[in-house]
Amino acid sequence: MSKGIFITATGTGIGKTVITAGLALALRDYGYDVGILKPVQSGHALDSPESDGMVLKKLAQITAPIEEIVTYSFSEPVAPQLAAEIAAVEIDRMRILQHVEERKAKHDVVLVEGAGGLMVPIRHDYSVADLAKEIGWPLLIIANPLLGTVNHTVLTTFVARQMGLHPVGVILNGLRETDQDLSVEHNSRFIEQMAQIPVLGTVPWLEADLSSHMVRQVMRQNVNMTELIKSIDL
Ligand SMILES: Nc1ncnc2c1ncn2[C@@H]1O[C@H](COP(=O)(O)OP(=O)(O)O)[C@@H](O)[C@H]1O
Ligand SMILES: [Mg+2]
Repeated sequence: MSKGIFITATGTGIGKTVITAGLALALRDYGYDVGILKPVQSGHALDSPESDGMVLKKLAQITAPIEEIVTYSFSEPVAPQLAAEIAAVEIDRMRILQHVEERKAKHDVVLVEGAGGLMVPIRHDYSVADLAKEIGWPLLIIANPLLGTVNHTVLTTFVARQMGLHPVGVILNGLRETDQDLSVEHNSRFIEQMAQIPVLGTVPWLEADLSSHMVRQVMRQNVNMTELIKSIDL
């Protein structure tokens, strides 16, 4: 039985943080006590309202201190390995795994937000995919809904499987009403056909400032939560 989900994406800025927060809110509606973990973040100070940890804390309405959500935090807006090198910090994978264990002991389910995509380096010998593999939980892939996404999503799914991960679903995020891309209505089908992975939903782009209420609503309305829960064997 898994205790959590590892959330990755086809790249950076695709919507991992927003979807992770939304999933936490939606899963709580199913009665689960949900914890969130961001093992390595970069680009902002730990307590900056713009940092992933603080966005997760606020959107997912987590009362625990930020240190319980984020393991490593670096201010430089670059990938984890480089950010750590600049800060002269050696990232210790055991510290991350220990943090996962701590969260696991406290919650029914833990959502771990990766950094960028799977092939992002955390250390010279360790990628986000390696971390996901060590944690061992099912993998959820966030992708964009537009032209190009079939290639990115299928590549991510294939590499995940090659690395021994278990991708269980895809969520397409950020579809704008003005998106005219003819491929949109067919992308889910092609992803499912080529990668043999379910697309659990397409989340619209929210024009207003994101609120917990809105994010929770769009998850509940657009993502097949029952299928997700079933596939992660909670
Ligand atoms: N469905 C959405 N509606 C509106 N804004 C969104 C949506 N998804 C993501 N965003 C915004 O897009 C940016 C990138 O999303 P984020 O979740 O931070 O991506 P990632 O964690 O993959 O880097 C953020 O500014 C976020 O607020
Ligand atoms: Mg993020």
